[in-house]
Amino acid sequence: SAELIKKLEETIENIPDFPIPGIQFKDISPIFLDPKLYEDVIADLAANSKGKIDAVCGIESRGYLFGIAIAVALEVPFILIRKAGKLPPPIISEKYDLEYGSAIIETREGQIKPGQRVLIHDDLLATGGTTEAAAKLVEKQGATVSQFSFLIGLKGLNGDEKLKKFGAEVYHVLEY
Ligand code: PRP
Ligand code: MG
Repeated sequence: SAELIKKLEETIENIPDFPIPGIQFKDISPIFLDPKLYEDVIADLAANSKGKIDAVCGIESRGYLFGIAIAVALEVPFILIRKAGKLPPPIISEKYDLEYGSAIIETREGQIKPGQRVLIHDDLLATGGTTEAAAKLVEKQGATVSQFSFLIGLKGLNGDEKLKKFGAEVYHVLEY
């Protein structure tokens, strides 16, 4: 809703030139100082996915902040997608490019079930590299990405372009 977007815009802090010059860092941590606002964010994200998904995949680490709560609200499983070296075998991995640097993400093999309709959730869509890699992990498990959801979508970095090939709905609560 317009009211929720306004409240979030007032709450999320913009930090210029962090972590490197030219990047406008969006600090979402003030949201967690306001439990009512947090509840409203979860209600919005959960309502968008209600009845459309069988599981939620959240991406370490900021994707966990909202992802688990969405899964609990919808009473579906939550699967962790983690940065390299954190999960015990058996795992599957995917390398990807970040807005700054590159990384590897992994998930426990077998936690995502073949045929499931999966929501991939993260706090932020920037270049789309992270969520694209997560979507590949989901498809490698024989499941379908049915939705992507984000708290924030950054315009101008063409993140949506990278996600088009998965044929899934892309939702964000607010855009910058
Ligand atoms: C940030 C953000 C997204 C990703 C977006 O995570 O939380 O996960 O980058 O970038 P992209 O669309 O260009 O791939 P980061 O890797 O900084 O780690 P964190 O969530 O653990 O803070
Ligand atoms: Mg992240």
